Amino acid sequence: MIRFIHLRIGAVEAVADGIVALTLQPLKAGMDLPPFEPGAHVELQVPLAPGVIRPRCYALINPPQERHHYRVAVAAPAEAVVEHGPASSAAAWLVSPSAIGQTLRVSAPRAHWALQHHTAPAVFMAQGIGLAALLGLVRQRVTQGLPWRLVAGVDSPSLAPVGAPFGAELQALAEASSPDSLHWFSAVEGLGLTSVINALEPGAHLYVCGALPWLADVRRVWGSRPAAQLHTESFDAEEAQRRGGFTVVLRRSGLTLPVAPGQTILEAVLAAGVDAAYNCRSGHCGRCEVAVLAGEPEHRDRFLSDAQRQAGAQMLICCSGARTPVLELDL
Ligand code: FES
Repeated sequence: MIRFIHLRIGAVEAVADGIVALTLQPLKAGMDLPPFEPGAHVELQVPLAPGVIRPRCYALINPPQERHHYRVAVAAPAEAVVEHGPASSAAAWLVSPSAIGQTLRVSAPRAHWALQHHTAPAVFMAQGIGLAALLGLVRQRVTQGLPWRLVAGVDSPSLAPVGAPFGAELQALAEASSPDSLHWFSAVEGLGLTSVINALEPGAHLYVCGALPWLADVRRVWGSRPAAQLHTESFDAEEAQRRGGFTVVLRRSGLTLPVAPGQTILEAVLAAGVDAAYNCRSGHCGRCEVAVLAGEPEHRDRFLSDAQRQAGAQMLICCSGARTPVLELDL
């Protein structure tokens, strides 16, 4: 089971246009928070409205030695700027000035996105909020004194690091390693995936954080290169996991449940009082795997093999959805 602690939102500060950093502090001053590895995520349980909790995962952006707080970066939705009254999404709630001082349930950090052990170059690629998930890995690579390169997409590359998310720190990290380590590119024009991937040294590992469609392009260009050298992380998977809008039939329990937009199958099942197994709730551990008896799942996990996904006989209900209006599950 996931361990949760209560933390207070101590500060909300803009780190770039449309990106806000939240500082989460322990309720008791001087208390150390649970340790974590670079690249770890925490789950924030956002109280959107009375009785409505929206769990959301964010990468920790502070260094692991800072145990007196956690910091996460949140993409501010456009409506957060003009909205008055109740927030319309978890992100809008988190970035609103009224969030300061509020207490949240926050999971202990989980390390499902981590630097692999290799001395071959590590090449990182991300743009905008995706840079938050790479920041800890870049710091770790610098500390290790091992070669790295970051291809970072920003709105105005000619002005970078000014205006870039974490621009000053990334620039300082590059200067501490090699000035060639950091390449700014225009997020509007795109960075030329093919040329980046074709230019990789033999044995290099590629770490990419971005939106699901972009990651699909990365995998397509990667093709038959060694799968163990490609590491991807999506920042919009959370929203995709909660698309809802379909029905699950639980054969053993004799229940038919709607999965509403904003809900995962697991959340719908637990809300109905069914005792389903789970652990990470992010598609990594495999604990929530169930057999699919009818219908076609939309897989969004990191656990099943490609062959298992194609067969469609199992699915992970914490994160995956449905391609058909109804899914029948062995639950
Ligand atoms: S709970 Fe870990 S994969 Fe679903």
